Amino acid sequence: MTSRSLRVLFVSSEAAPLIKTGGLADVSAALPGALRRIGVDARLLLPGYPQVLAALPHARYATDLHGFNGLPPARLLAAELPNGVPLWVIECAELYQRGGGPYQDDARLDWPDNAQRFGLLSRVAALLGCADTPLSWHPDVVHCNDWQAGLAPAYLHFARGAAPSMMTIHNLAFQGIFPPHSVQALGLPPACFSPEGVEYYGNLSFLKAGLFYAHHITTVSPTYAQEIQHEPLGFGMQGLLAVRHDQLTGILNGIDSVDWNPATDPHLARNYDAASLGKKAANKRELQKRMGLAVDEEVPLFGVVSRFTYQKGIDVILELLPRLLEMPAQCVLLGSGEAALQQAALDLSHRHRGMLGAYIGFDEALSHLIEAGADMFLMPSRFEPCGLNQMYSQRYGTPPLVHATGGLADSVVDCSAATLADGTASGFMCTEVTPASLWGAVQRAVAAYRDRKTWRAIQKNGMAKDFGWEKSAAEYAAIYRRLVA
Ligand code: ADP
Ligand code: GLC
Repeated sequence: MTSRSLRVLFVSSEAAPLIKTGGLADVSAALPGALRRIGVDARLLLPGYPQVLAALPHARYATDLHGFNGLPPARLLAAELPNGVPLWVIECAELYQRGGGPYQDDARLDWPDNAQRFGLLSRVAALLGCADTPLSWHPDVVHCNDWQAGLAPAYLHFARGAAPSMMTIHNLAFQGIFPPHSVQALGLPPACFSPEGVEYYGNLSFLKAGLFYAHHITTVSPTYAQEIQHEPLGFGMQGLLAVRHDQLTGILNGIDSVDWNPATDPHLARNYDAASLGKKAANKRELQKRMGLAVDEEVPLFGVVSRFTYQKGIDVILELLPRLLEMPAQCVLLGSGEAALQQAALDLSHRHRGMLGAYIGFDEALSHLIEAGADMFLMPSRFEPCGLNQMYSQRYGTPPLVHATGGLADSVVDCSAATLADGTASGFMCTEVTPASLWGAVQRAVAAYRDRKTWRAIQKNGMAKDFGWEKSAAEYAAIYRRLVA
């Protein structure tokens, strides 16, 4: 790194492997790492949840944080992620030291003090990015991710000597909406509670604040950047996003190609690469055994790893499953989320013992084995800002079946005579999230699977694709440079 490289404070509410509920965690660890490899001094700011503090026993005291009226006093600790990215953690027992998850309690109810919890994250980010920072390291850009960091651009807007801010949308469906009195409680100037500010249909929206005040907005795929400028995927923000379209860029996420490499993945029964795809079968056997399925090399095995929510089209998968299993085919489901979907998955797996395995929970190791052991991966999301699993599965020679939306449309090439001929076919797409449309893609996939030569070609096309972070990191760096210039 040169003596004065560009400095970026990356603000996020999760980062793998310390705390993870979804893809934001993967991106928050991998993107700063990739930025550092191209000479950007990227550092991370994260709330000090118990899981984070426990994983960082050697974290060092950095500074006290107080004087935020309405918010409890806190301390900043310094540490590093396992991939070497420098990290600041906000230690504040009153707001973060508790059981449950980062956003919700064990009953999946939002924490009632989320406005304070993520108000503090945003406020600390803004403090570190302005002239009053207690640290000697001063960022050139503050890069905020999702609603939890959305107030930082607003605080920065009103601060002295503030760095420019960038807001990245990972999912517009989550907007951080709180009652109007939160504006004053969080120390924002009352005048910013207007449509030309943080107000959103009579409430405070953290995400709206970020989208309004940030100097630049990015989202995690080019197609999603277009989709969110219109209904329905704009989720109410389409007007603002369309007005700001000149400052809105879609940059496709990469994947961590060290963690997600079938040749070295420690979670597999047997490692393999594109030249030794025959060894993939050992993972299918292991997955079938582990999930209580009949061990059968020939039957097509579908895999799902997902949050169980409406976004992901899990309901449509469940509706189609009885027909799919009759083909015959097998399926494994790994995920957690809405209670009704979890229960429906378990009920179905009891009715179809030996053909359908469901595991409700979060299991990193099993998610890797599913990517390797399944023959194909199901991901019919209703919307998908980027999506990571469809990229993991292509890298693992497990062609994905996806809905043509967002990052899925940008990272999967639908199999057709033309795409087989030009060597780009890497998966299968449905055009609607309905059982009928998904069934069409399933039938095309199973027909291709039965034709071994075609199947090998599709697998190898996917495995040959470059999903590394290098190109995307360079695009982020180019925007940072424009903001600083
Ligand atoms: P989203 O962030 O919307 O949930 P992504 O596809 O971007 O979707 O990222 C999801 C990430 O979370 C992937 O790394 C996926 O493997 C992981 N994941 C989701 N559910 C589980 C689970 N139940 N167990 C293990 N990993 C999971
Ligand atoms: C969100 C999106 C997902 C994306 C991830 C990381 O959780 O739902 O599509 O891949 O963020 O950007």
